[in-house]
Amino acid sequence: MGSEGSESAVASEVTAAGGPKGARGGAQAIPRHVAIIMDGNGRWAKRRFMPRIEGHRNGAKSVRTLVEECRRLGVRYLTLFAFSTENWRRPQEEVGGLMSLFVQHLESELDLLLKNDIRLRAMGDTSRLPPAVRDMLKRNEERTASKSGMDLILAVSYGGRDELVQAARKMARAAQAGEIDPEEITEDSFGRYLYLPDVPDPDLLIRTSDETRISNFLLWQLAYAEIVVSPVLWPDFTRDEFHRCLNVFAGRNRRFGLTQEQVERA
Ligand code: FPP
Repeated sequence: MGSEGSESAVASEVTAAGGPKGARGGAQAIPRHVAIIMDGNGRWAKRRFMPRIEGHRNGAKSVRTLVEECRRLGVRYLTLFAFSTENWRRPQEEVGGLMSLFVQHLESELDLLLKNDIRLRAMGDTSRLPPAVRDMLKRNEERTASKSGMDLILAVSYGGRDELVQAARKMARAAQAGEIDPEEITEDSFGRYLYLPDVPDPDLLIRTSDETRISNFLLWQLAYAEIVVSPVLWPDFTRDEFHRCLNVFAGRNRRFGLTQEQVERA
């Protein structure tokens, strides 16, 4: 798809951001919350006979492009799967390289966040991260805490099952202390024990590199997300490819378990 075509298609949809649903129960043109599994960095590097860290380094460039584009289009929440609980088992050299990359980018991108009114938030078991990464995350979270244009959520040392186990543990403790009644636990009250209870569920999940798994990402929150798979390896993910994914999303029919007739009446 040419950039002009996708530009104008998306541009005409921007006006609908956060507004009413598209015709006949179609998805909103611009999703309120986009979540991304950035996959394919290793393969990108391998194809170029480069070390894997070069794939991650080039992947970081795609992150910047995407963040700027989401902000420009009016996406309110963007969650990026930057490092999973399973990724700790990768070779030491790659884990160390990724941690250094996180520190570098958190350092260099603070101005971009401030200038674009973006709040940075981390989700995951951050206690496992090296102090340099933790400190930099904390610094950027604090410095951007009052920003309200977009929340950029970095899932680092994150696992969906881990998040659910932590939530169950906190709830069990609260029940033991007599603060909650197990019989009164609901989906809403359970959700309040997750990492970021104020963040609405993703509307759109994009996974790159043609992989079709959820890989332990946001297991609770993705219940009704539309999934769009991109064939592109993450370091090659461009604005045009993002627009293509948004256009696929805009054409989806979201029924949330209702019938088409109910959706049309709503
Ligand atoms: C998956 O590709 C990617 C990761 C595990 C790391 C994602 C990290 C970045 C894009 C770096 C920069 C991020 C920020 C937030 C500055 P893979 O290594 O599993 O690829 P493969 O499946 O081709 O091996």
